[in-house]
Amino acid sequence: MYAITRATEIADKIFEFWITAPHVARHARAGQFVVLRIDEQGERIPLTISAVEDDRIRVVFMAVGKTTTQLSSLRAGDAIRDVAGPLGKPSEIERYGTCMVIGGGVGIACTPIIAQELKEAGNRVVGVIGARNESLLILEDELRAACDELVVCTDDGSRGFHGFPADILKQRLEEDAPEAVWIIGPAIMMKITSGATKPYGVKTFVSLNPIMVDGTGMCGSCRVTVGGETKFACVDGPEFDAHLVDFDELMQRQRIYTAQEKEAMERYHEHTCRCAEGEARHE
Ligand SMILES: Cc1cc2nc3c(=O)[nH]c(=O)nc-3n(C[C@H](O)[C@H](O)[C@H](O)COP(=O)(O)OP(=O)(O)OC[C@H]3O[C@@H](n4cnc5c(N)ncnc54)[C@H](O)[C@@H]3O)c2cc1C
Ligand code: FES
Repeated sequence: MYAITRATEIADKIFEFWITAPHVARHARAGQFVVLRIDEQGERIPLTISAVEDDRIRVVFMAVGKTTTQLSSLRAGDAIRDVAGPLGKPSEIERYGTCMVIGGGVGIACTPIIAQELKEAGNRVVGVIGARNESLLILEDELRAACDELVVCTDDGSRGFHGFPADILKQRLEEDAPEAVWIIGPAIMMKITSGATKPYGVKTFVSLNPIMVDGTGMCGSCRVTVGGETKFACVDGPEFDAHLVDFDELMQRQRIYTAQEKEAMERYHEHTCRCAEGEARHE
């Protein structure tokens, strides 16, 4: 069992958990993830390792469906059945020169650890984060501390630049192009944003989020097409050269279990309502 030592809601439906997992913490690098299972019957879900401190790792997740909602109901002092990792290849950290690290939505969670390792490797790091509105911006101070410069964007202009990280990236490409760019966020955001660097031939990495089950290259569920070849995101990635990724296929495959996911969420809500009614009757 893996103890949760801190559980905080840091934005609407976005949670930060610190979990004691010494074997993961010892080896974790930027860009890697864990697969966790809440209990014996639980579904396996992948979450990025967002920070490491001593023998603990941090995960930051959005409650979007059954398992993430169930996870969000846990508190400090509770425990998780399995935490497997670190999985996947670490980010390709080298001395590039100037790097931009761009996070969108809950994808921002992965950016501080990448920025920190890039900085330690001698790069100048420009962070760019974007969210729909101010209330969904996360880890801003932490990323600012890890970067030489941070630009904050909101879709509605409630904070920082009124627009998308892609707009900032396009400006920088014109003025003073970075040597390498990381983009982490929803698939559509990664597709559009990475399109900006393609004409400039700037090395661009994206962290792909297909459906994963085992996380070890055995089940094939995380199959993605990169440069016309089939890759398994859990072992060959999750980071890939953005300009080679078939994003349309990724987005189509992300939706293949929508009906089952909806049903699982409805069953979970029914179950939690019944439990709450039972508790009320016993009071
Ligand atoms: C390498 C990797 C790292 C990730 N890191 C983070 C993170 O740091 N924070 C975060 O909030 N989310 C992260 N995700 C996405 C997260 O795994 C899904 O949101 C979660 O599995 C949804 O499960 P659910 O039961 O709550 O929702 P569901 O209702 O089951 O699914 C909601 C959506 O999440 C996706 N999804 C569902 N099951 C899986 C699965 N087993 N594997 C991957 N995606 C799935 C599907 O696109 C689906 O449409 C990551 C995904 C990958 C592949
Ligand atoms: S998650 Fe099973 S092969 Fe990648």
